[in-house]
Amino acid sequence: MIDKLIIFDTTLRDGEQSPGASMTKDEKVRIAKSLERMRVDIIEAGFPIASIGDFEAVQAVANAVTDSRICALSRALDNDIDRAGEALKGANASRIHTFIATSPIHMEMKLRMSPEQVIENAVKAVKRARRYTDDVEFSPEDAGRSEPEFLYRILEAVIDAGATTLNIPDTVGYNLPHQFGQLIHDLREHIPNSDKAIFSVHCHNDLGLAVANSLSAVLSGARQVECTINGLGERAGNASLEEVVMAIRTRQDMFSVDTTIDTTQILSTSRLVSGITGFAVQPNKAIVGANAFAHESGIHQDGVLKNRETYEIMRAEDVGWNTNRIVLGKHSGRNAFRTRLEELDVVFEAESELNEAFRKFKELADKKHEIFDEDLLALVNGSISIENERIRLVSLKVCSETGETPVASVTLTLDDVEKQVEMAGSGPVDAALKAIEDIVNSQTELQLYSVSNITSGTDSQGEVNVRIEKGGRIVSGQGADTDIVIASAKAYISALNKILAPIDREHPQV
Ligand code: KIV
Ligand code: ZN
Repeated sequence: MIDKLIIFDTTLRDGEQSPGASMTKDEKVRIAKSLERMRVDIIEAGFPIASIGDFEAVQAVANAVTDSRICALSRALDNDIDRAGEALKGANASRIHTFIATSPIHMEMKLRMSPEQVIENAVKAVKRARRYTDDVEFSPEDAGRSEPEFLYRILEAVIDAGATTLNIPDTVGYNLPHQFGQLIHDLREHIPNSDKAIFSVHCHNDLGLAVANSLSAVLSGARQVECTINGLGERAGNASLEEVVMAIRTRQDMFSVDTTIDTTQILSTSRLVSGITGFAVQPNKAIVGANAFAHESGIHQDGVLKNRETYEIMRAEDVGWNTNRIVLGKHSGRNAFRTRLEELDVVFEAESELNEAFRKFKELADKKHEIFDEDLLALVNGSISIENERIRLVSLKVCSETGETPVASVTLTLDDVEKQVEMAGSGPVDAALKAIEDIVNSQTELQLYSVSNITSGTDSQGEVNVRIEKGGRIVSGQGADTDIVIASAKAYISALNKILAPIDREHPQV
């Protein structure tokens, strides 16, 4: 008998907690629609009490998605739960996920609560959440370092209080696969009412074991896995959705479960998430890395040509590879452009945004004959107006010549006032970024600068990712253009616009 394994995606919540990966409301909705198309069972859309923006983003996802259940996170606090319940009002199917820490170190140092108080708060939180929905998930945070006997007590109590899913997080990624599997086995064995709830796992990747730990838990009876696209998430990330799903699908000989995920949507969703967050996927990343299905060495190619199963355990097309299509070109009209974007879940709120994106598309199509979905998505990411956009690029000119110091001349508007500066640098990108900083005086530190090509060929657009830091706050910015110096300036300006915006946001676990 094959059981269903529930896939709970937390890209929009735990993924977003990754420094620099924050997303706007519209970006969250686009990712949620892509997850829905992939047939993800549950989408954790955010932590509504964190800020008004977070609340509105959960609300927007709840209103936009119909097929997946939408979940909101809350600490075991009345206000958190009420905000989560409010944000989920428009959802077709909703879930409140409430949590409190249960490891000795977290209870003593973070919560300053006795174990009895922790149980009391957990029970109260679950009961309050049940006022809003009959689907309530409870997590004992840092379960991986909690006393099993204490977990038995608190989990029994929350099931009695109405929790329908018990999620066991390895919050700090400390467990080993055999140990984590044993924990799930023991919990199911020792909790008298364990059959009344679904066991779920939520593993972090600090030791690179998040997927292995999740799979071990599934073998021990867990029937929900919490994961993220590309393994995005706090610190080293969460278990990667694509790896969990494909491991279970590929090794059906080992599992008595399967998911209902449409795996052909994996690659496009992975690209959407990396494009929006600026967290690039490493080439050798399983399933979605550029080399994951490239059999480069001559010996391998020969083997694959004779019989693909010699070296391939999965089919590239099953996870969405080889579906790259030329979608539009120089002669495509506005309607074709709008329709293709709608198919990619991009809907512009204002007609002016569509017009601006279409103008950029025409410009791009003049330089590059074949326009792929990736080109369109990069173009859109650069066209949607950013809230609090204080800096806008007006023009950029660079002089770069062998034997000469490169010089960039940048004109931009800062708070609607036009300014122009010329600066020299070690290269044209360095000169352009120095000129921008000279005008803005942001005093931020550049933590990451990377360039990659969006599609293949030298006429491809270059996509630049930057990450900047100021006072402990990290943001990222992306820019795309066929000219990589312009792409760099766009990326840097997009990051600066984010870091200059005021922020008042709470982190759920700190
Ligand atoms: O890692 C963790 O413990 C969490 C909880 C909020 C479930 O993300
Ligand atoms: Zn987590």
